[in-house]
Amino acid sequence: MKERIVSGMRSTGKLHLGHYLGVIQNWVKLQNEYDSYFFVADWHALTTKYDKTENLRQDVKDVVIDWLACGINPEISTIYVQSLVPETAELNIYLSMVTPQNWVERDPTLKDMAKILRTKEGANSEVSYGLMGYPVLMSSDIMLFNASAVPVGIDQVAHIEITRDIARRFNNIYKTQFFNEPKPLLNNCSLICGLDGNKMGKSFKNDIKISDSEEETAKKVMTAITDRSRMRKDDPGHPDECEVAFKYWKIFADESTVQNVRCECEKGLRGCADCKKQLGALINEKFAPIREKRKYYESNPAEVEKIIKEGSEKACIQAQKNLKQIKEIIGMY
Ligand code: TRP
Ligand code: SF4
Repeated sequence: MKERIVSGMRSTGKLHLGHYLGVIQNWVKLQNEYDSYFFVADWHALTTKYDKTENLRQDVKDVVIDWLACGINPEISTIYVQSLVPETAELNIYLSMVTPQNWVERDPTLKDMAKILRTKEGANSEVSYGLMGYPVLMSSDIMLFNASAVPVGIDQVAHIEITRDIARRFNNIYKTQFFNEPKPLLNNCSLICGLDGNKMGKSFKNDIKISDSEEETAKKVMTAITDRSRMRKDDPGHPDECEVAFKYWKIFADESTVQNVRCECEKGLRGCADCKKQLGALINEKFAPIREKRKYYESNPAEVEKIIKEGSEKACIQAQKNLKQIKEIIGMY
């Protein structure tokens, strides 16, 4: 029996290179070793965007299309949508009973989300009851399938800690060993920053999307921050102070290419504009097969729908089995 992993992403629409390098690439590798469940967390998207649902359905599809394009294989992994597995919500009720309020209040990631929200104007600037439940709902996602590990980006680790605590507490309260204490599974790729040097994110407008065209990508890469102290293209450059472009080289190019870029930059033989033109071409080359595959799924929406539907049905069957046992352990009618 393979060990099981569960992981998800919020339905934020088209994904960017940070999602790919930080998470999806890892999933693609892990799906061969683990019984894998990957889902689109549309309820988690609602925790902050309950008043902006006009694109929700398309956003869910776009996430799945990106996953498929990147190599998540629906033949071996279970791909589903959170809200199509309502057992998640039922488990959420049970877990919310055993979770002390101060555990969720202490969650650092949640605190950050709340802080961002409070800077917004209008009705949706309050922290809702649903948002407070974010880590408990995440625990429900994971524990519904009794996963033993959760492959996520480093930003999600605090949430997984709470999941471990909830699992342990449930086991103690109901004198059972039913739940695993799931471990986070991080990948070892260094985090890619946005074009402006900050964290890459859709809302910061500093991202390169998996689905961007070659032209868009090339244009965006030209805006990447370089060595700010460099005035002319034949000035000696400082790759280690080149805030974004050189970091991208290190992520996408092989060792000897990186050495070559460093050397030419330091000697003033390489202008930043040329350098970034080459970099854009390299990124385009790396993503060409993925983008090709993406186009295929984009033009075959019925196939994507089928994958989502069948995956969600499969997930439901497993979820019902587990939930039945969980209810028995608790002592429900
Ligand atoms: N919070 C995660 C994110 O923002 C998405 C998520 C929801 C998740 N439930 C999960 C990730 C369960 C792993 C396991 O990306
Ligand atoms: Fe950065 Fe390349 Fe310019 Fe050097 S030449 S500072 S590595 S963009």
